[in-house]
Amino acid sequence: MSDASNIVFRATGLTKVYRNGALEVHALRGIDFQARKGEFIVILGPSGSGKSTFLNIVGGLDRASGGEVWFEEHQLTALDEAQLTQYRRDHVGFVFQFYNLVPSLTARENVQLVTEIARRPMRADDALALVGLQDRANHFPAQLSGGEQQRVAIARAIAKNPEVLLCDEPTGALDSATGIKVLEALTQVNRAVGATTLVITHNAAIRDIADRVIRFADGRIIEETVNATKKQPSEVAW
Ligand SMILES: Nc1ncnc2c1ncn2[C@@H]1O[C@H](COP(=O)(O)OP(=O)(O)OP(=O)(O)O)[C@@H](O)[C@H]1O
Ligand SMILES: [Mg+2]
Repeated sequence: MSDASNIVFRATGLTKVYRNGALEVHALRGIDFQARKGEFIVILGPSGSGKSTFLNIVGGLDRASGGEVWFEEHQLTALDEAQLTQYRRDHVGFVFQFYNLVPSLTARENVQLVTEIARRPMRADDALALVGLQDRANHFPAQLSGGEQQRVAIARAIAKNPEVLLCDEPTGALDSATGIKVLEALTQVNRAVGATTLVITHNAAIRDIADRVIRFADGRIIEETVNATKKQPSEVAW
């Protein structure tokens, strides 16, 4: 697994400075990071430590101020806006805390929004089945629970068969039992699709389901832990 050809992401000396008038916020202060194909990585750290900034740069939603990020043979930090959009479209699935489903479309139609424009999509119904929602395909978001809506959002993110699945507090709005269902969907998708998966969470209990745990503080990675054995989401409690 340590073979260099298995490296999907490589960041070196990554920095991000936000400027608002005279005020400068150093959100990232030099991040060195690598992720291997199919790895499941949990990212922890206090509010404001730079987790979302990092995920957004890796996902091509935001730009670094310094340093480099590579996705496979693409240097993301050298791409223009159009190329970054193409990168996101072809390779990245996003899951956020708020599901952003289209209320007037059914679960299946929400997923089809992505499969219609993807290069090598799976069938929308197959994506819904992967998250355990094969029986809910014709339901509208308002007819689904919060956890079910989040699983539709996961199905939408993975339906294009992305190499990378980036999740920013995917269980943040959910109670524990529902959150565990969402984590089960993520681990199932990680296994089935082999997508390299990065999950930001405030919930330290979730660390046990990861291959590797990365802790941010003040714009830096201050700790990295490899889990010798992983727990199932059903074995995690919070
Ligand atoms: N668009 C922006 N403009 C200015 N400052 C920003 C912007 N986005 C983030 N920041 C600042 O950058 C720092 C890192 O923010 P970031 O959102 O990455 O933190 P986080 O670790 O994701 O926090 P949380 O756990 O609260 O989501 C914070 O100080 C934040 O205020
Ligand atoms: Mg954040």
